[in-house]
Amino acid sequence: MTLGANRMLLTSYVAVTVLGLSAICGAQSAQPLTPIPSPKTTEQVYKNIQVLKGVPADQLIPAMQFITASLGAQCDFCHLENAFEKDDKETKQTARKMMRMMFAINKDNFDGRQEVTCYACHRGAHKPVITPIISQEEGQVVAEEKISHEEPSTADLPSGDQIIGDYLQAVGGAEAAKRVSTRIQKGTLTVGSEHFPVEVLAKAPAKRLTTVRFPGGDSVTGVNGDEGWLSTPSRAVHDMSPSEVDAARTDAELFFPNRLKLIFKEFRVQQKEQLNGHQAYVVLGIRDARPPAQLYFDQESGRLVRVLRSVETPLGRNPTQIDYEDYREDGGLKTPFRWTVARPSGRFTIQIEQMQQNVPIEDDKFAKPATPHSILQHDPG
Ligand code: HEC
Ligand code: HEC
Repeated sequence: MTLGANRMLLTSYVAVTVLGLSAICGAQSAQPLTPIPSPKTTEQVYKNIQVLKGVPADQLIPAMQFITASLGAQCDFCHLENAFEKDDKETKQTARKMMRMMFAINKDNFDGRQEVTCYACHRGAHKPVITPIISQEEGQVVAEEKISHEEPSTADLPSGDQIIGDYLQAVGGAEAAKRVSTRIQKGTLTVGSEHFPVEVLAKAPAKRLTTVRFPGGDSVTGVNGDEGWLSTPSRAVHDMSPSEVDAARTDAELFFPNRLKLIFKEFRVQQKEQLNGHQAYVVLGIRDARPPAQLYFDQESGRLVRVLRSVETPLGRNPTQIDYEDYREDGGLKTPFRWTVARPSGRFTIQIEQMQQNVPIEDDKFAKPATPHSILQHDPG
């Protein structure tokens, strides 16, 4: 493969990833934020749907992402390029059988709950391993009494509300958090060994624009209230589905600590866990009609260090993990200057180098572009 082709791949991979373009990473939820009169179903939008009928069309690509993560395969394992509707590959036909089998297993054995998924058997392989693997390690003698089947107790842990309160204090207090309403951040996005300039514009509530400057042009992910989109140099502007918007919006809001209580309606403390050598409280953030998110707060510093959220697809949940690091103080508020977004497909890190807060940003900066952003913006930043 030429370097050029590699770059193209990388560009679209990152675009998709940064976006959370959910096309690829998808944030599916049971109910859209803004009810749409009649959301189109897969068979109304796609050409050859036989199993996943009746499912909202915006869940098809996330379901495909779930399959690729579960089998450790790429799209071309089952599809011909630019002819996704064709059934030429046997693997695609097998996949249909597998879907039917999986739905039947869950229906017949688990009251229809999604307990068995492609990943449950495949574990990242084209063909599941069906015989236990022989250990490469020395045997270990485990004393019977060491094996505990008890759920860890939450009795001696602080309450969810207490942990959230401590977090607000730890980053500078509710007053300081309220005073910050806009942010302009510049830094570097790193994927593997490649680095690209990145710029983030944010305005509370729920407005955010992330621009990654790839050699071939800018890739922009925007969210503006109930609207979200993604534009890449090579493609037209892609509108996010309501569930994608929801995910992008939640990610945006998490950077304004005082919005946390507005995103989640309840915080339920789950357990204490070791994370990067520190103890962290794991708190379940509950929301209406959407999968909950796990929020990790460092026990010592009180800071938010990780968010683990997932989006539903007809086949299973697609997880996204965001780790926040390098908190720095500005205007009385501590803000993470580095975050890593990780998905089954890979991860990237954004390191902020410069930040300005409370600089007025016009609302129209967050308006969805009519043409691809790369054409509008040529400032190399
Ligand atoms: C393991 C096999 C497999 C993999 C890998 C896979 N798909 Fe699919 N895909 C299917 C099957 C099966 C269907 C048809 C589903 C049905 O009939 O309900 C489908 C349908 C589709 C369709 C609808 C086509 C049409 O017009 O009918 C699109 C688009 C699609 N896949 C995109 C993708 C993308 C993008 C990827 C990679 C991210 C991908 N698929 C990976 C098996 C796969
Ligand atoms: C209950 C376990 C189980 C589940 C769940 C499962 N599979 Fe499979 N799958 C298998 C086994 C076992 C094989 C290998 C059969 C063989 O060796 O011929 C297989 C084979 C396949 C193959 C053929 C691979 C190849 O290299 O030819 C595809 C494609 C596939 N599965 C897709 C899926 C998809 C997509 C899902 C989720 C919708 C899924 N499977 C769910 C057990 C499972």
